[in-house]
Amino acid sequence: EGDVYKFYADGHWRLSSSGNISYVYNPTVAGKQAYKITACSKDEVNQAFQSAKAAQKIWAKTPLYKRAEMLHKVAEIMRKNKGPIAECLVKEVAKPAKDSVTEVVRSADLLSYTAEGIRILSEGKFLFSDSFPGNPRNKLCLASKAPLGVILAIPPFNYPVNLTCSKIGPALIAGNAVVVKPPTQGSVSTLHMMHCFHLAGFPKGLLSCVPIKASELGDYVTTHPLVNCISFTGGCDTGMSISKKAGMVPLQMELGGKDAMIVLEDGDIELAATNIIKGGFSFSGQRCTAVKVVLVMESVADKLVSSVNAKVAKLKVGPPENNCDIVPVVTEASANFIEGLVTDAKAKNAKLCQAKFSRQEWKRQGNLIWPLLIDNVTTDMRIAWEEPFGPVIPVMRIKTPEEGVKHCNSSKYGLQGCVFTSDINKAMLLSDAMESGTIQINSAPARGPDHFPFQGIRESGVGSQGVTNSINLMTKIKTTVLNLP
Ligand code: G3H
Repeated sequence: EGDVYKFYADGHWRLSSSGNISYVYNPTVAGKQAYKITACSKDEVNQAFQSAKAAQKIWAKTPLYKRAEMLHKVAEIMRKNKGPIAECLVKEVAKPAKDSVTEVVRSADLLSYTAEGIRILSEGKFLFSDSFPGNPRNKLCLASKAPLGVILAIPPFNYPVNLTCSKIGPALIAGNAVVVKPPTQGSVSTLHMMHCFHLAGFPKGLLSCVPIKASELGDYVTTHPLVNCISFTGGCDTGMSISKKAGMVPLQMELGGKDAMIVLEDGDIELAATNIIKGGFSFSGQRCTAVKVVLVMESVADKLVSSVNAKVAKLKVGPPENNCDIVPVVTEASANFIEGLVTDAKAKNAKLCQAKFSRQEWKRQGNLIWPLLIDNVTTDMRIAWEEPFGPVIPVMRIKTPEEGVKHCNSSKYGLQGCVFTSDINKAMLLSDAMESGTIQINSAPARGPDHFPFQGIRESGVGSQGVTNSINLMTKIKTTVLNLP
């Protein structure tokens, strides 16, 4: 714990010459420092970009099958080291122990799958000129995919391993270099994961991981002239600010959501309740795809609420080491924000369902917030619109499905949503009407499997993810036209 974690650049692990240190706190124990991390200087960040640019030129000429072999190799190393990486996740983001291991294995699987992206990259297009009016058949156009150059990857705290790999994998297979700016909470997991890439033997400089103090160097990193694409997952405000300053580079942004669940009268209420528990409360709701508002038809609302409450009562609340269902949220600021949403809803007469604690209707101890369903939420309450990123789920009772669609479409977000009904026609019509990147039928929102397209609209982001879409986004079309006599 006393040691300071080094940054990774040019194939080496080093302490920053700046002498600056960032502190990672253990969310489970108030004020307890979990790790110390070196914070890079401007020069060191600049050097990482310069090295990435130089290494990328060579990597782009490395045969595709060899790039794929390297990804398979790193995936294998990651699987072997899942234990120590998962331990960091438990300690710095309070992810339940089992889920932490799952995150690492899922990431290794993602890298192996991405290696198969060589098929997408090896295919191109061949066009004759004479299908366009006025053109004889004297031009042949060859179109193929070329790498963009240097990808800046900025993952979030909640999936520091998986959402770094989902950016690095597609970038590398497509022939790009990557500079990773890790999240502060989650940086040690990211650094350990990067060590797997180091052990696999990727060319020096091709990959780097540069922890920085974002308040000082954030803009410098995101506006660096050598950045050719930014892949960011995180908060809406930061994403917006990056987008405004980024300039003419492709952006892949995934920025939270207010994922709505619409439950119709003919829906399977037990199934919906189970999905609220799994989809809303796992990792204490700290997933951009968590169920963040339930819109249920009045006639089945009591049944749904009582079923969810019975299940909430069985959730284990406590530390991530014990694999509890509900774990402390990442920071005190986050817990305070969630508390603000609950207090506002309560003051406006929402019903806090877990009224079993002595003298209080809900419970918080430090960063640990007991799971809470809030019933009778109305549109004047903040929690009807804002994203708690915590184990607190609002229920709004609706008179018609259209009312649910209207609420969903009035949100500033548009990441995912879901519909519970036994009528496939209604499901398809509602999916069409709900303005969100993805609508799940009879299951909670989720990003995976990781090769599915994943995207948000409005303030939930731009660009689409998923292995194939990320490879496409991190490449540009290059054409060569052969002019015949
Ligand atoms: O927090 C955002 C993640 O992309 C959600 O991923 O649906 O696998 O939990 P997930």
